[in-house]
Amino acid sequence: MSSDINLYTEHPEKYSELQNLRPDYRGAIETTVALVTKYLKDRNKISVADFCGGIGNVTRKIAEHIPISKATIIDINKEFLHIAESSSIKTEKLETIHSDILEVKLEKEFDLVLSIFAYHHVTDNKKEKYLKVALSGLKENGFLVLTEIYSPNQDLTNQYYRKLLEKQILIPRA
Ligand SMILES: C[S@@+](CC[C@H](N)C(=O)[O-])C[C@H]1O[C@@H](n2cnc3c(N)ncnc32)[C@H](O)[C@@H]1O
Repeated sequence: MSSDINLYTEHPEKYSELQNLRPDYRGAIETTVALVTKYLKDRNKISVADFCGGIGNVTRKIAEHIPISKATIIDINKEFLHIAESSSIKTEKLETIHSDILEVKLEKEFDLVLSIFAYHHVTDNKKEKYLKVALSGLKENGFLVLTEIYSPNQDLTNQYYRKLLEKQILIPRA
């Protein structure tokens, strides 16, 4: 399996800018942070595995609300992981794993597995395997938060693609 979003793959430095064009990106992160805070706030510190974590945006946000002892960001894109490593995520320990998510082997050490806009990168015939990998990393009382693409109506979806298209024209191709 490989990453299929050429636009931000070609321009990793523009990752957040491009993602914020999505009508659902910020809302999804806010909802994710609210869920995590609600269910995990009583734990002293949490360990987090961020599946297809990109530049670590979601882990970074969560760290603003709950202390993190260890964050493991897994992504197939090395450049995204380099950005994550240098972006001062508030965690005692930061580990990045450069791998296809279906190939990772995890210990049952995580309070939280994040899957934010990641599941749709996996083909249908591999989705069950993906979920098994995600669950394999959880402690007995751990949580998996799986947040996916959502657009409430066709207009908004069209606006999003129009904006992306405009951006694509604006970004000079090498
Ligand atoms: C839409 S982004 C979401 C990133 C992050 N979760 C966030 O919300 O900002 C999808 C990410 O999945 C990664 N990805 C795609 N296919 C992957 C795979 N097979 N294994 C690991 N990462 C993958 C991409 O490199 C990209 O960083």
